[in-house]
Amino acid sequence: MLKTKHGTVKTPALMPVIHPKKQKIDVKKFDTEIVITNAYLVYKDEELREKALSEGIHKLINFDGPVMTDSGSFQLSVYGDVDISNKEVIEFQEAIKTDIGTSLDIPTAPYETIEKTKEDLKITLERAKEAVEYKEAKNMEMLLNSVVQGSTYPELRSYCADELSKLNADLYPIGAVVPLMENYKYRDLVDVVMSSVSHLPDSTPRHLMGAGHPMLFALAVAMGCDLFDSAAYILYAEDDRFLTTRGTYKLENLQEMPCSCEICNNYTPDDLRAMEKEERTKLIAEHNLNVSFAELRVVRQAIIDGDLMELVEERCRVHPMLLDACRQLDKYTDDLEIYDPRIKKSAFFYTGSESLRRPEVTRHLNKLKNMDKKRDLVILPKSRKPYSKYINKSDFGDFYTYGSERDLDLDNTDFMVLDVPFCLIPLDIDEVYPLSQNESPKINDIDSIEFIENFISEFIEYYDQTLISSKIIDLLGIGLYNIHPDSDNVKFIKDDERKVKAIADYQFGNGVGEFLFEGNLKIEKSKKTGKIRHIYSNGTLIANMRASDSFFVLAKEGAKRLHSFKAFPENRVVVNKDSEPFAREGKSVFSKFVLDCDINIRSKDEVLIVNEDDELLAFGKALLNHNEIMDFSTGQAIKTRKGFG
Ligand code: GUN
Repeated sequence: MLKTKHGTVKTPALMPVIHPKKQKIDVKKFDTEIVITNAYLVYKDEELREKALSEGIHKLINFDGPVMTDSGSFQLSVYGDVDISNKEVIEFQEAIKTDIGTSLDIPTAPYETIEKTKEDLKITLERAKEAVEYKEAKNMEMLLNSVVQGSTYPELRSYCADELSKLNADLYPIGAVVPLMENYKYRDLVDVVMSSVSHLPDSTPRHLMGAGHPMLFALAVAMGCDLFDSAAYILYAEDDRFLTTRGTYKLENLQEMPCSCEICNNYTPDDLRAMEKEERTKLIAEHNLNVSFAELRVVRQAIIDGDLMELVEERCRVHPMLLDACRQLDKYTDDLEIYDPRIKKSAFFYTGSESLRRPEVTRHLNKLKNMDKKRDLVILPKSRKPYSKYINKSDFGDFYTYGSERDLDLDNTDFMVLDVPFCLIPLDIDEVYPLSQNESPKINDIDSIEFIENFISEFIEYYDQTLISSKIIDLLGIGLYNIHPDSDNVKFIKDDERKVKAIADYQFGNGVGEFLFEGNLKIEKSKKTGKIRHIYSNGTLIANMRASDSFFVLAKEGAKRLHSFKAFPENRVVVNKDSEPFAREGKSVFSKFVLDCDINIRSKDEVLIVNEDDELLAFGKALLNHNEIMDFSTGQAIKTRKGFG
């Protein structure tokens, strides 16, 4: 959400560009909540300037919702000069009552020399600082954009973002990316955007300046962009080009209209070709806006459903250079993982080898690499999920045996299943999200097979006395190990105690399971589904297992045990004195009262709420991740389950 004095905007949002003089399309009939126009063009035209100064920019462009204005930087980049100073353009934007103004940044072109980029950047930063100080000194009402520049040098983009973050601007656009988009340099666009956003505060919206092609929206939102502006809708229309999420179509090549919007339903390509230029341009522009807003709705729904990355992978398949960009996201999986909620409504769908680099897979593999290992490792063949339900004693008969001389000590062995896309899944935790809530076809592409092979080869080296053969990779479907088919001792698969402890370790950290579930355990199951529901220790409820994702929801005693086992600040959110009584009463925690929190907290995690002395006040579910909790000054951070009074 972006709050302005002319209303609140739902993000991600698209701002149609309004030409202050030539505008023919009424953008209000679409989903338009906010528009952008150019303050410099208004300033340069005497008639427009007088009208804007006397009646305000909203009247001038006939839009009464939030209006953002640009400063003339674009003209600066095209003509090399503008006849307005930074201070003047700030003052002018406030005078015409814009909601969001912009300082006079210098858009340094991609691939510029590093010397020139640094020179430009110095000026951009000085002007951004001057603008913020001027705004504060004059007590201006308008919000302020501070634009991230730095050409195609990731380190300069990050530096610029760091410096701008200190300024307390209201929005952080990412500038000078239009040439990258025009030239299909999407891979470089990913580097530019990721090196910028990963150094910007999470609470401040990011605008990808000049991004108006709908095929880019999903990717840009996945990278953390919240706002787009579209001049493309009219510029493409003037050139008889249709925007779609599959790319751009030229009218001269069309036999069929490209979508099912109102324009495409009511006209044929021949109708349009027969029209006067002006009427045709208007209709194509309307189509372009329809498609763009429709795509943003799809993106917002994907965020709600938790399948934005599936959408990105789908959209990026429309152009090889976009697929390249999607693959470039691999480099940033750790950054993206922070923002990926631990649990989602939707199952994980594998759409290709790119899916193996998604945050869910990285997170699982990191967990595996850091888990408490038993002495031996047995890798079982892939079967139906959840594996623990379908693998049974008779399967062992089919296994390869690789010359182990000794019997397995089952209690001292990790049993894992070979899996796509999660590589290896410990049997005990195979019902936890998303390890069983996922779908993949039979894989046959080299990239995926190599990825899984490499991980497994690397992983088994961690087992000092692994029983596994390095010949593991008769991939997918062939069992590998020396389990003695005759052994009566196959209880490991059905052992609920082992299972609840392993899930607790996976969810809360190594060793938690033993501690959380120590004592005389009673594990209650649903009569209907047979799934574990409640776990008691010595007659006291410790935790409930959520049916949808098999993670634990702690009960009071469980929270106390977790608190006494884990060292500060692990699994904790620390609140200030003002918030303490509310937390104790079981009221939700707001971000602004949080003093500290565990860096590993992700959205949807179960967390402990403590005061500065580490007294346990309450426990609940995180609604945000660590970065967001620490950065946001409004809104709920933790939905408290229970307080300790
Ligand atoms: N519009 C497109 N790119 C830019 C940019 O880098 N800066 C500004 N101010 N506006 C833009």
